[in-house]
Amino acid sequence: MAIQRIVDTEVYEADTDEQIIEITLRPQTFDEYVGQDRLKKNLKLAIEAAKKRGEPIDHVLLYGPPGLGKTTMASVIANEMGAGLRVTAGPAIERAGDLASILTNLTDGDILFIDEIHRLSRAVEEVLYSAMEDFKLDIVIGKGPAARSVRLDLPKFTVIGATTRTGSLAAPLRDRFGHLHRLEFYNDTEIAQIITRAARILNAEIEAESAQMLSTRARLTPRIANRLLKRVRDYADVNGDGIIDTKVTHGALAMMEIDEMGLDPADRSLLVRIIENYGDNPVGLNTIAALTGDETSTIEDFYEPYLMQIGFIERTPRGRRVTQKARKHVGR
Ligand SMILES: Nc1ncnc2c1ncn2[C@@H]1O[C@H](COP(=O)(O)OP(=O)(O)OP(=O)(O)O)[C@@H](O)[C@H]1O
Ligand SMILES: [Mg+2]
Repeated sequence: MAIQRIVDTEVYEADTDEQIIEITLRPQTFDEYVGQDRLKKNLKLAIEAAKKRGEPIDHVLLYGPPGLGKTTMASVIANEMGAGLRVTAGPAIERAGDLASILTNLTDGDILFIDEIHRLSRAVEEVLYSAMEDFKLDIVIGKGPAARSVRLDLPKFTVIGATTRTGSLAAPLRDRFGHLHRLEFYNDTEIAQIITRAARILNAEIEAESAQMLSTRARLTPRIANRLLKRVRDYADVNGDGIIDTKVTHGALAMMEIDEMGLDPADRSLLVRIIENYGDNPVGLNTIAALTGDETSTIEDFYEPYLMQIGFIERTPRGRRVTQKARKHVGR
């Protein structure tokens, strides 16, 4: 995306400051990891059982919109297991040989985190199947008539896969995971907790009422909550005495043009354009993308999950429809 949006659920890649903050604020343990109670309960049990048996835990697939804590959870699991963590991503593993070299370099009990796992190529996926199932690696040595296949033993490891969409994951791959978990949007109370925790770590003084106000504008997403906090803190440093009170918070939010629902100008413009062109008729994803000049994946991953969560857009068999609630919000 060319323009950086405050409410962007992705990390700004060029912004090292943002990356440092993201790492500093990343919870290390289940206790620090706010919310997602069902997920934590299940994983805690699995980890305790695996530790008792002296085995690695079963493979884990985490899915859900960006910024909800998938990568964070992977490192919490590794930490709670006392396991080594290797991090890679679907697009980074180009050939089967790349995966083979990653796998043969693991040691017993290691956790292999594969981000964007839906972007693995078919050839790489095939290798991953037997590796995940039997801890065996089938490789072909040589070429042509002399080629022969050998089976190597691999260490007992755990794959943690993360994806923003399970839909694009091949069913056989999905079936290899013992734990499949969807990360849910957080509620306001949890987001306020995350903001208060982050403020403490960043040494920012924030009034409870301001944390409360920010929590309702952070799109129920920890990454955005942390980013808003950072921006409001900057605003407080420049326009006040550094203390984040309600006056500062109001001022900063108004400056960023983030409204009571956490929508920014790009969201509002998306809704207005659909309403102006299609009223409350269903519109296809491609049409929406054409209206805003975005990729369809941007609409699907960044705009839509939250707009659907708050009931501003609904999916119908014939496409997406802007709801009455959204029309009222943008005054159409
Ligand atoms: N449950 C949580 N409690 C506290 N902070 C959290 C929690 N989940 C996420 N965060 C914060 O939000 C930031 C973003 O989380 P994370 O990188 O894990 O998201 P993600 O789901 O992996 O996103 P993406 O799909 O873009 O990779 C982290 O740096 C962390 O500080
Ligand atoms: Mg991530």
